[in-house]
Amino acid sequence: MKIPFHKPYIDDAEINSMSGSVRNGWLTMGKKTYEFENDFKSFIGASDAVAVNSCTAALHLALKCSGIKEGDEVLMPATTHSSTSEAVMYFKAKPVFIDIERDTHLIDVEKIEQKITRNTKAVIPVHFSGQPADMDRIIDIARKYDLSIIEDAAHAFPAMYKGRFVGTIGDATCFSFYATKTITTGEGGMISTENREWAERMRLLRLHGVSRDAWERETAENFWEYDVVELGFKYNTTDLASAIGLEQLKKADAMHKMRSAIAAHYNDAFRQCEGILLYIIRDERETAWHLYPLRLNLERLTIDRNAFILELKKLGITASVHFIPLYRFTFYKKLGYYIGDYPESEWVFSRVISLPIFPGMTSEETNYVIGAVLDIVKKFKR
Ligand SMILES: Cc1ncc(COP(=O)(O)O)c(C=O)c1O
Repeated sequence: MKIPFHKPYIDDAEINSMSGSVRNGWLTMGKKTYEFENDFKSFIGASDAVAVNSCTAALHLALKCSGIKEGDEVLMPATTHSSTSEAVMYFKAKPVFIDIERDTHLIDVEKIEQKITRNTKAVIPVHFSGQPADMDRIIDIARKYDLSIIEDAAHAFPAMYKGRFVGTIGDATCFSFYATKTITTGEGGMISTENREWAERMRLLRLHGVSRDAWERETAENFWEYDVVELGFKYNTTDLASAIGLEQLKKADAMHKMRSAIAAHYNDAFRQCEGILLYIIRDERETAWHLYPLRLNLERLTIDRNAFILELKKLGITASVHFIPLYRFTFYKKLGYYIGDYPESEWVFSRVISLPIFPGMTSEETNYVIGAVLDIVKKFKR
């Protein structure tokens, strides 16, 4: 059997919706995108949602609205996607890495305050694999030191923290609709915020800083006229993408149920296995299960993480690693980030594996992965 890491959950609904946009001739950002924004904000109960072409663009615009500038410092977990820190470095600001908790893979809130200086301006909690970070504690710290909270929720749609959807908590929340994400538009992103001023500015900034986009002008008498009010970016999405997003959104609950069922199945199968350490989902948090990561109990195995992934590959299963910690990359090493500063991230990195999880994954496929993992553990038992 061959099991990919991910398969998109797309059917005729997305195809018909997208071909509707192709046929009506409005391909770029327009009515469908506004509909997508509306449906998305209604889904999570946010005041505003601004569609962009990636989560990276979303992070960039959210940081811009928070006023980040050269020399500022922004806190984030050491083990995240390079996008989280890249967006900070666009401003010549400094990403400050905080070690993660080994049992949740989330930013260790107990280690945040010791890294705060007079230059610290924002914190970016990353809701790794879909589990929300400890937002209450992060809000307390942010209030105390006057920091903006920009959430990296690339993995966290739909996810809940204490009965609230992720996307309604921090100053701005950034989502990804990249091909493998819990809902997808191929590439895409969304920013939710309760701050109307920020939302309006993000709408300007995503399209060259122009006062009216093409759709708004289309329907106006002075259709050809617009103003450029500040330096913007080319971060708008397209109606082609939004047409897919609208249909994905309708399936979001059903897809989340499927992911949760697969995760529950994995959890039941691995809970008693000595070679495996499951992550903990904290109370009052509901994860989106974008990823199903687990940690190998290397003390009980004669095989390391890389060899384990190769064993899975021999059995036709594609697993992955999320994430290679940022301080391990050449670019960051040159900037002076040092591996020895993040012992928990290192501990996790040597053990973590993400197993396939996607809506539409059959019980037969899930059982096959479970059987393979347990067989490898048995074969390489210490
Ligand atoms: C945690 C995290 N943040 C940000 C991103 C960037 O998302 P995008 O590809 O939509 O820019 C990713 C992408 O996988 C991610 O995993």
